[in-house]
Amino acid sequence: MAAFTIRPATPADAEALCALHMASVRALCLGAYTADEIEAWLRDRDPQGFRHAMTDGGETILVAEREDAVVGFASIKETMLFGLYVDPAKGRGAGHLLLQAAEDEVRRRGVSVLSLQATLNAVPFYRQHGFMRQQRSTVRRGGRDLAVLDMTKPLS
Ligand SMILES: CC(C)(COP(=O)(O)OP(=O)(O)OC[C@H]1O[C@@H](n2cnc3c(N)ncnc32)[C@H](O)[C@@H]1OP(=O)(O)O)[C@@H](O)C(=O)NCCC(=O)NCCS
Repeated sequence: MAAFTIRPATPADAEALCALHMASVRALCLGAYTADEIEAWLRDRDPQGFRHAMTDGGETILVAEREDAVVGFASIKETMLFGLYVDPAKGRGAGHLLLQAAEDEVRRRGVSVLSLQATLNAVPFYRQHGFMRQQRSTVRRGGRDLAVLDMTKPLS
């Protein structure tokens, strides 16, 4: 099977990113969150939101591709990793490559500590990659408060 490649996203990727995000959350976050919480989380998602994030929102999105399909993405803004999602069917294994690429990019920009709000299902993944727990927190999505864990990683 072909290797994953990583490249910067463009607004033309917005539809694929939005579809991938929804499929990833529905398949990989279920269990850590209820089906109701997940649907609330996804209620306001649309491709325009991804376009806006890249053009006006100050986010840099990196995508993983395999055989010309977008199979994962990581989003960074300032000192934060905003999102990291892989396609449940085609993207497993791209997560650590996207995380590495995101860390390289923020380090290149002079960031010394990378922060994120981890979904509960992703906490073991981030621990394995050197992130440390700071505190429990919540994010507001679709009128619901969803539990997350604030985590940080010093970048050397
Ligand atoms: C957290 C997340 C990004 C990790 O990405 P990932 O690609 O699964 O993580 P890794 O790169 O470590 O790969 C792990 C899995 O891929 C498999 N894998 C590794 N390389 C592979 C390859 N080349 N091809 C196929 N599978 C591969 C591993 O065996 C492992 O599978 P397992 O979990 O069944 O044992 C992903 O699980 C995800 O998108 N979760 C839902 C969204 C989410 O919660 N994101 C965090 C928001 S803060």
